[in-house]
Amino acid sequence: MELMELLKTRRTYRRFDQSRPVPADVVEDIVRSAQYASSAANGQPLSYCVVQTPDMVEAVYEQVRWAAALPREQGWPKDGEHPVLFVAVLTDAKRSGGMTPCDAGLAISNMTLAAWNKGVGSCIMGAINRPEIMQILGINPEEKELHTVIAFGYPTHKSTIREIAKGEPVKYYLDENRDYVVPKYRLEDVVEYR
Ligand SMILES: Cc1cc2nc3c(=O)[nH]c(=O)nc-3n(C[C@H](O)[C@H](O)[C@H](O)COP(=O)(O)O)c2cc1C
Repeated sequence: MELMELLKTRRTYRRFDQSRPVPADVVEDIVRSAQYASSAANGQPLSYCVVQTPDMVEAVYEQVRWAAALPREQGWPKDGEHPVLFVAVLTDAKRSGGMTPCDAGLAISNMTLAAWNKGVGSCIMGAINRPEIMQILGINPEEKELHTVIAFGYPTHKSTIREIAKGEPVKYYLDENRDYVVPKYRLEDVVEYR
């Protein structure tokens, strides 16, 4: 896909074909893309935990919250629509401040784009039960902190951007086909040229 089209269509996806695993070569692309991300002073404070066995994926699934803007029956994946893969983004507990959140954002962006380039949709997730997920994954909280998890799978819905003016509601919603519509501020309201 052409880059701008990839960026435009790499939206948040929250319903997936749970019967379709993400192939190993795509998982490899996802983690490789994180390695390719820039890092402040090239410090590389991030590490990753790939969660791919169905039992582990379901255990993590129980500890995340979907679509705060929507009622649960609309925003949460139903049985058969769950993600099939999570990547946990971890920071070094001794250097989780400073520029580390920026590093994490860059790595997350690369991973979601690398996945979408192969047709795999994603949802970046910050509303998560961190202590519980750390325990499920067997990660020592003295060594690492959990920044986010990213859910992956082949989406079963579409998501499109709708341009809005500053001041209009930013809440995403489902249209009559249960596809997501994501309002984004139009450029003339957020970009200045000098
Ligand atoms: C840092 C971050 C945390 C997020 N956390 C969640 C989350 O916990 N649950 C969820 O369903 N979506 C989550 N999202 C997805 C946002 O709701 C989504 O990005 C936003 O609605 C815009 O949609 P778009 O990604 O298609 O542009 C998160 C996104 C980001 C960037």
